[in-house]
Amino acid sequence: MDRIAITGGARLQGEIPISGAKNSAIKLMAASLLTDEPLRLTNMPRLADTRFLGKLLARLGAEVVESEGPDGPETLLTTREIVSGFAPYELVRQMRASFNVLGPLLARNGQAKVSLPGGCSIGARPVDLHLKALEALGAKIDLHEGYVYAQAPRGLQGAVIDFPFNSVGATEHAMLAAVLAHGDTVLENAAAEPELADLADCLNAMGAKVSGAGTRTIHIQGVSRLSGTTHAVVPDRIETGTYAMAAAIAGGEVRLTRTRSDFIQALLDKMVEAGVDVTPHSDGLTIKRNGARLNAVEITTEQYPGFATDLQAQFMALMTLADGESVFRETIFENRFMHVPELARLGADISVHGGEARVRGVASLEGAQVMATDLRASVSLVIAGLAAQGETVVNRVYHLDRGFERLEEKLCACGAQVRRLKGDGEEEVE
Ligand code: UD1
Repeated sequence: MDRIAITGGARLQGEIPISGAKNSAIKLMAASLLTDEPLRLTNMPRLADTRFLGKLLARLGAEVVESEGPDGPETLLTTREIVSGFAPYELVRQMRASFNVLGPLLARNGQAKVSLPGGCSIGARPVDLHLKALEALGAKIDLHEGYVYAQAPRGLQGAVIDFPFNSVGATEHAMLAAVLAHGDTVLENAAAEPELADLADCLNAMGAKVSGAGTRTIHIQGVSRLSGTTHAVVPDRIETGTYAMAAAIAGGEVRLTRTRSDFIQALLDKMVEAGVDVTPHSDGLTIKRNGARLNAVEITTEQYPGFATDLQAQFMALMTLADGESVFRETIFENRFMHVPELARLGADISVHGGEARVRGVASLEGAQVMATDLRASVSLVIAGLAAQGETVVNRVYHLDRGFERLEEKLCACGAQVRRLKGDGEEEVE
């Protein structure tokens, strides 16, 4: 299993191009199942998660071709026919968003058997809202031996679905299913993340009739068929925010390009409050910090446009060196402080009580061996390593490879000292 070694202390100077959003790309790939025509996705991130999903889609009947287009990586997905409606545990377990093939399979094929994804390191993460939404659209759902057996032999029917709380995955799933349903669907109390609007834009370009995506109420007028199109994946706001914090902790000046600063406004407001210099521009933003210690600030994770839970671990890394005590309230996932003991190995002073963490800023961090249990936690350790004295080695790099494209290369291009160590001879136990 590879590791990443970071020698702390280098200031960052330069430009980092941001990739397409992982969390959008995987839902757009699932959308390709809704049509027998080719869907060409540009600005595709090349990640372990997109590869996992590509494997699953190929098994269901898609032809998946990756290439380098004039504007970067592309993936062409063509599913002339669904050859199987079966998504096995081994593939869904590797990447839980694979579960979202259920809706498209049902909408196009009338039936599907898809593994339940199971829990994950950041919490139980049930899919009850996904299943209730599909049932509301007329699907008959049975659960046996860890699998969802779903049927809608006469197609899905439009419905009004009022979500009890905002769920990104369930809203996307309902949208993916309802576009081919008979009649109209209204999704109330929908999630409003930018990836939802991106999915709706792509579906509309395929001939769907979706309005209101990106707000709490989404209207969908069902259509009988969808066609192919070309769609550029929206920039990754989590990658953008992560590199913004990398630049802030290391110091220096970094320009983040091919992205949008408005997607991470809640984070940028907190960074400015902490003392980081942030300048938005038409193609992204510039982050600058010259030496002075940052101020401690409080954050509470919320649904978009609030402070993203996927940026909480990285912001905590930043606050480990701030002046004073900062408070973190995690409201989206119940078990999302797994990075705390690892940050403590680097010398951070953090205590956790339920959904709240208190970080008392220390004067310096010291490099150590660390390990993380999820994607965003892993990258928070890389960020801390950029400012720690000496060498930090982050184990279990496969978490990073799931969601960050060419991380070492992007950071090294700005002067960071980050390298990948191949293999460690240890068996991974998950
Ligand atoms: C997506 C993102 C993830 C991000 C999260 C919140 C992808 C692939 N992942 O995850 O990176 O951290 O949004 O912004 O896009 N819940 C239920 N029942 C359900 C569904 C969700 O109880 O059926 C709960 C979850 O356990 C969680 C909360 O709702 O506590 C929000 O989860 P949700 O918005 O669905 O997150 P994901 O779509 O899984």
